[in-house]
Amino acid sequence: MKTLIIYASKTGTTESCAKKLALQLRNAELFDLQSGDPDISEYDIIVIGGSIRAGMLHKAAKKYIKKNLELLKSKKLAFYVCSADTERSGEYFKANIPAELLTKAICSDSFGGEMDISKQKGLSKLIVKKALEESLKKGVQPPCILPERINCFAEKLKTI
Ligand SMILES: Cc1cc2nc3c(=O)[nH]c(=O)nc-3n(C[C@H](O)[C@H](O)[C@H](O)COP(=O)(O)O)c2cc1C
Repeated sequence: MKTLIIYASKTGTTESCAKKLALQLRNAELFDLQSGDPDISEYDIIVIGGSIRAGMLHKAAKKYIKKNLELLKSKKLAFYVCSADTERSGEYFKANIPAELLTKAICSDSFGGEMDISKQKGLSKLIVKKALEESLKKGVQPPCILPERINCFAEKLKTI
């Protein structure tokens, strides 16, 4: 089985997760949606990953899915998001991925997220600063990548 991991990342977390996932699969390649649209014809499994901001999937991922809906229906699919709030991932998938693709997916999950102020610009810098201050106030850890979720996702893909 040949896998293509297609991802769209704003500050690098989704890309880093795509690489971590690829390392766990036998025959996987990577494609950054910001460099155009991939040719998926030679792949059996298509994984699509995108980051979440204000509840929305990265626009390059959303646009790619919309444009290639029929082609994607003919593939084995899996989806992941990078999001600070992992508990809302079900909601994020429902709002951003057409049900006809989501229901046939092998798996879908959030791999967690990162909030690195140094990678943000403008308003995003302020939003991340506030979110980190809130975490500190509540005594909760800031969001991070969750390797165990990537492992679990990879194991599911390996069963296909
Ligand atoms: C402006 C902004 C808005 C965000 N909105 C959400 C959100 O609505 N829900 C969530 O779970 N995470 C949210 N996040 C966290 C991102 O999903 C997280 O930083 C993720 O790791 C970004 O991935 P990327 O580096 O691949 O772009 C937000 C982050 C920023 C900077």
